[in-house]
Amino acid sequence: ASILVLHGPNLNLLGTREPEVYGHATLADIDTSLQATAEAAGHALETLQSNAEHVLVDRVQAARSDGTALILLNPAAFTHTSVALRDALAAVALPFYEIHLSNPHRREPFRHTSYFSDLALGVVCGFGADSYRYALDAALRRIGQAEA
Ligand code: DQA
Repeated sequence: ASILVLHGPNLNLLGTREPEVYGHATLADIDTSLQATAEAAGHALETLQSNAEHVLVDRVQAARSDGTALILLNPAAFTHTSVALRDALAAVALPFYEIHLSNPHRREPFRHTSYFSDLALGVVCGFGADSYRYALDAALRRIGQAEA
C-alpha cells in the first residue's frame, strides 16, 4: 500500500526551530526513518512538506485517485486555522492520523482546538519525532489487517 506523509508550515525548520519544544531531529531525519520503516514492511511512503495551504490541499485532493491508502498528517499551525485543509480531507474521505511533535494541550489556549481531530482515526502528540513513528506503526498495523 502507499502511505502519504504531509507536514505543514515551518516544519522544514525542524532541528533548529525551538528545539526545547520540537526536539533536535530534522525533517530529513524523520522522513528518512519513516521511509525505511515503511519499506521494510513492504509499503511505499511519500513525504511532502509545505508552508503553503494550497499545496497541501492540492496534494490531499490528488490522493483520492493516486492509490494512497492512508495519510499521516502534521498540519502544524494549520491545525488551528485551516477549514480548507480539513474540507479536503473530508472530501477525499481517506483515513488519516493527526500527528504533533509537541503536546498542544499543554501549550497556549489557541493550540487546544484542532480542525482535524474529529475526522482523524487517531491523534498522536507529545512524543517528539517519535509521534510520527507511533502513528506509522498504527498505520502499518491497520494496512496489514486490511490486506490479511
Ligand atoms: C505542531 C503544533 C502546532 O501547534 C504548531 O503550530 C506547529 C507544530 C507540533 O507538531 O507540535 O507548527 O503541529
